[in-house]
Amino acid sequence: MNDPQFGKDENQEIISLEGSKIKKIKDEVQKNPNQFWSDCAKNLVWFKEWEQVLDWKYPFAKWFRGGKLNAAYNCLDKHLTTNKKNQAAIIWEGEDGKSVTITYSQLFRRVNQLANAFKKMGIEKGDRITIYLPMIPELPISMLACARIGAIHSVIFSGFSSQSIIDRVNDAKSKIIVTADGGYRRGKIVPLKRIVDEAVKHTPSIEKVIVVKRTYEDIITGENDVWYENIVNRESSFCPSEWMESNDPLFILYTSGTTGKPKGVVHGNGGYLTHLYNSAKWVFNFDPTDIFFCTADIGWITGHSYVVYAPLMHGVTEVIYEGAPDFPSPDQYWKIVEKNGVTILYTTPTALRSYMRYGNEIPNSYDLSSLRLLGTVGEPINPEVWKWYFNVIGKNNCPIIDTWWQTETGGIMISMCPGIENIKMKPGSGSFSLPGIEIEIVDDKGSRIKDDKKGYLTIKKPWPGMLLSLWNNNERYKKTYWEKVDNSFFAGDFAYIDKDKYIWILGRADDVLKVSGHRLGTIELESAFVSHPSISEAAVTSRSDEIKGETIIAFLVLKKGIESSQHLSIEVNEYIKRTIGPIASAEKIFFVNKLPKTRSGKIMRRLLKSIVNKETIGDISTLEDEASIEEITHELDAINKQI
Ligand code: WTA
Repeated sequence: MNDPQFGKDENQEIISLEGSKIKKIKDEVQKNPNQFWSDCAKNLVWFKEWEQVLDWKYPFAKWFRGGKLNAAYNCLDKHLTTNKKNQAAIIWEGEDGKSVTITYSQLFRRVNQLANAFKKMGIEKGDRITIYLPMIPELPISMLACARIGAIHSVIFSGFSSQSIIDRVNDAKSKIIVTADGGYRRGKIVPLKRIVDEAVKHTPSIEKVIVVKRTYEDIITGENDVWYENIVNRESSFCPSEWMESNDPLFILYTSGTTGKPKGVVHGNGGYLTHLYNSAKWVFNFDPTDIFFCTADIGWITGHSYVVYAPLMHGVTEVIYEGAPDFPSPDQYWKIVEKNGVTILYTTPTALRSYMRYGNEIPNSYDLSSLRLLGTVGEPINPEVWKWYFNVIGKNNCPIIDTWWQTETGGIMISMCPGIENIKMKPGSGSFSLPGIEIEIVDDKGSRIKDDKKGYLTIKKPWPGMLLSLWNNNERYKKTYWEKVDNSFFAGDFAYIDKDKYIWILGRADDVLKVSGHRLGTIELESAFVSHPSISEAAVTSRSDEIKGETIIAFLVLKKGIESSQHLSIEVNEYIKRTIGPIASAEKIFFVNKLPKTRSGKIMRRLLKSIVNKETIGDISTLEDEASIEEITHELDAINKQI
């Protein structure tokens, strides 16, 4: 058995791909970055060529300024004149075992029909459309229909609550919501339309709600509701593509940050698509015969970039799975790989950890020999899990790409690139940055630090997939990403570079949690807790968890006169799930009299984190109320014993 951790020579052999083109590519980009990125952009179909490769007015980048293109055209039309036309674009696998295949030409028709229906409803270029759908084909179809007519899509993960919809719709001022009667989650029906009904009472910009039939629930239909199938069926199957300027927004995707309000990350057309096309080429090394299975929910950035845009631009066949990895049985991914002959699996460490729990027998009972490449994303992967993935799933034959990136970066930034290089894998490290991406690890003052030392991950130069800005909030964009370190993008992660120059990601350096790989802000959670009528103050931190990576631990101070109880704890947790969504469920809630704060009133979350993770507490000399130190430490000690 190979032991990849120690980089034996066998590992070199398993990546017997095209050899090392990467040095040549990296030299090229160093010598003439504009020429390099311009060549990369030429992999897309443009209606009009750009006037300037990069117009960089710190911190705003306009990539391929003046160029005109359309994302849906690049995903669909360009394949219609090739033999891909009748090839499967999407193989959809439902949680209930139902399966549907959609060819490129069928997908084209369905996208065009919906685009025409949107237009008939008065949607114009630049208008926003919110999409709140489960993982069904209508989700990518709706996104591509928006892209076709230049409407900006804002997809909301279908596990979020009505309050999350209200916040996001009101920020984007969307005119339409596309939703479904219901969605399946672990055999249960999530009443999506009912959640939307609650939300639209508070979203004045919404003119129409379009409803897809999925679960055939009894739902209430008001005068602004229309059935998806009724509006698309009568539409023509051709709608001209809008010529989008490269820097016109393609979508808004809300993501958690270090304040209570989610950030509307805005991505454009030309730069974003160029980054996706090329990163997918280098990292996945797509071949026309590939069957690609990215397990991410489209409600998150991985789904936007590597379920919708990148694979369709490349014309591969992809599998979209509606359900959870372990429902109805803990073998869903393996079943899908065998059934469809999946060649590339791109998933999360959380999903792998949950499968590992069930042992090797289950995956060993499936034929996984079609796999040629395995990927992970979203959180650090522990070497143990990496090895299990490599040995048990890949049968020591598939390279593992550990891809680091973020909602803000648009596409993959750090990963081994089997399409262009042949290197030794180190389990737990994503290896190197992609061509043209310059990563630097810096200290508190923004100075580059020595290799092997932990610091903040920054990106030194603009890259095509970078966010255009935050929706309607250039100031917050500047402050969040570009003012922490001079002239560099601040990613919010801790990392270090080892002596062989491999990059290792150590997790978030800010108040952002990763629960099952999903991004949640502590402050966002705290605001939700204090909106409960019994709570006056809240501090949220996380505890390491074997399966989920991190779980939420909340410390709550009750309002005067309110008694703590088990019942209240359950009620508060239910309230949080209703307010944010089921993923925000706290693992533990503690009622305390006082929160540890600094003298300037800041909650000492790091102290709480150390305590719940049983780490050394460190310096507490900045605590606000010296007289209370003892009391707080005592309380926290008691809490510690309970954990
Ligand atoms: C984390 C997900 C370690 C990281 C694409 C980042 C990772 C955050 C990795 C972004 C990885 C993502 N190894 N950590 N391979 N990939 N992360 O915006 O903390 O949901 O900042 O984008 O996920 O999360 P987001």
